[in-house]
Amino acid sequence: MKIVVIGGTGLIGSKLVPKLREQGHEAVAASPNSGVNSITGEGLANALKGASVVVDVTNSPSWEDAAVMTFFETSTRNLLAYGAAAGVKHHVALSVVGTERMLASGFFRAKMAQENLIKASSNPYTIIRATQFFEFVKAIADYSTEGNKVRLPSALIQPMAADDVASAVARVATGAPANGTVEVGGPEKFRLDELARQGLAAQKDPREVIADPKGRYYGMDIEEKTLLPGEGARLSETRFETWLKHSADQKPRVAGKSSGSAA
Ligand SMILES: NC(=O)c1ccc[n+]([C@@H]2O[C@H](COP(=O)([O-])OP(=O)(O)OC[C@H]3O[C@@H](n4cnc5c(N)ncnc54)[C@H](OP(=O)(O)O)[C@@H]3O)[C@@H](O)[C@H]2O)c1
Repeated sequence: MKIVVIGGTGLIGSKLVPKLREQGHEAVAASPNSGVNSITGEGLANALKGASVVVDVTNSPSWEDAAVMTFFETSTRNLLAYGAAAGVKHHVALSVVGTERMLASGFFRAKMAQENLIKASSNPYTIIRATQFFEFVKAIADYSTEGNKVRLPSALIQPMAADDVASAVARVATGAPANGTVEVGGPEKFRLDELARQGLAAQKDPREVIADPKGRYYGMDIEEKTLLPGEGARLSETRFETWLKHSADQKPRVAGKSSGSAA
């Protein structure tokens, strides 16, 4: 099958494209750098010619409220319209577990708008909602840092490796449209403060992580189970501890010294 991955150069897209190729599919990595722009429509008709599946793993360059809404609405409308015109048989989009519980955030309002446009279209689709990626644990801590202290609520979180997200998206993209939403999550639940503490410690980050009932997740108040996937979610295998070790092993070393830069 020809499968066009819009956002094919991003964190998930760049892991997804080789997985699809390994399975024998013609996977096209599309992004503005390769002349395909889901906002302006540039290159979309050509890229989607003969495609069976379009996978949307784009993200907005700006997370400012209005900008992120404009990005996901415009991009999704274009992908659905160009996809229908090209006869694409499956529209797959990556979204986030708990989106409807986090509408205090402009980013999640935009993801909700993206999901609603897909559901309202007549294109066959599957929305795949993933939990937070291990790769973003540091960013979660950074957002809640003041001085040397990270204040986070002790809400539950069930994160997963970006590589496992890409495998899950590949499975969905090569299957039949669900015309609905599927959820994927990680193998273990953590308390948010505990996850950040482990992640920072593994990077020898000296910040102190404090469990604070008034602490916020990306500036939002969240409940105990806001970030957790539902009962039917498919759970991935890679554990956080294994991923941390693997990430540390991959750090480039020069003449026996750590370069200090992440892999
Ligand atoms: N962060 C999490 O924990 C989490 C959890 C669940 C789901 N998600 C979702 O996963 C999705 C992918 O995230 P990611 O981290 O892989 O994103 P990312 O690394 O930021 O990559 C974004 C991709 O979108 C492309 N893009 C940007 N503007 C575009 C445009 N106008 N036309 C075509 N492509 C464009 C980028 O191309 P360039 O490289 O050329 O800029 C890049 O390939 C997001 O929708 C996010 O909501 C995230």
